[in-house]
Amino acid sequence: MKISEDMKNQLEQAARAIKSAKHIVAFTGAGISVESGIPPFRGEGGIWNTYDPEVLDLDYFFSHYSQSWKAIKSIFYDFLKDKKPNAAHHILSQWETKSHLKSIITQNIDNLHKEAGSVDVIEFHGNAQRLTCLDCEHLFEVRDWVFNEKAPSCPNCGGRLKPDFIFFGENIPEQAFHAAHQATWLCDLMLIIGASGEVSPANRIPEMAKSNGAIIIEINPGETLYTSKVTDIYLQGSAGKVLSDIDMALRQMDT
Ligand code: APR
Repeated sequence: MKISEDMKNQLEQAARAIKSAKHIVAFTGAGISVESGIPPFRGEGGIWNTYDPEVLDLDYFFSHYSQSWKAIKSIFYDFLKDKKPNAAHHILSQWETKSHLKSIITQNIDNLHKEAGSVDVIEFHGNAQRLTCLDCEHLFEVRDWVFNEKAPSCPNCGGRLKPDFIFFGENIPEQAFHAAHQATWLCDLMLIIGASGEVSPANRIPEMAKSNGAIIIEINPGETLYTSKVTDIYLQGSAGKVLSDIDMALRQMDT
């Protein structure tokens, strides 16, 4: 598809900003995994159009353990198990190697940044690849787990198991919270990729970066709550396509 003159200028402006930045941080949401076949939570084809978000409410989980697990299993385990990183995840991993990018703060629990080879990944909402026992606090890797129709119980103590990601009404993991704030204060450029800005406290991260003087580049097929509030350069399009175009522009600058 032919890129418009406007978009070409925006891409070049973004590539110049990335080239001269000293400390870049990417802030990613569900949109970056859409091209891996994982639906977003909101908007067209969003998970919350099919499932009631209540299934991920902590109090509901404790009072409706089996029902909650039934939904969790189908949303996050049956669905996620064969999904692979896409071009967007791979480009961010390459940029980390080339030291353009220092770290990724992700709201995603799908582990795809790490599977793409990214090292400094701050999992602000946790990770679905681990289960934790609410009674003996034992941690299990999901890859060694076989789910069936029954809600899982701890092989260690028979206790209840919870995915190691945060539910609505649950605090952000302390270590991730501090690491995300530190990365945000250090960055002079933040890339927002595929995030709607609908959920707090995650949605405060780009605002903090902005108030600290960072340049904000946003990649999303549609405008979001960030676009009119913090974004300096808005690049309309899918994560894979736009990141590939920026990567191309950066390579041309190097030649
Ligand atoms: N490339 C880039 N962005 C895309 C793409 C794509 N291919 N497809 C969709 N998007 C955008 C949508 O336009 C939307 O703005 O991704 C965004 C996804 O928004 P949400 O579904 O709200 O996801 P996110 O912002 O990550 O949600 C935050 O909400 O439900 C909770 O804990 C969950 O971490 C999640 C949090």
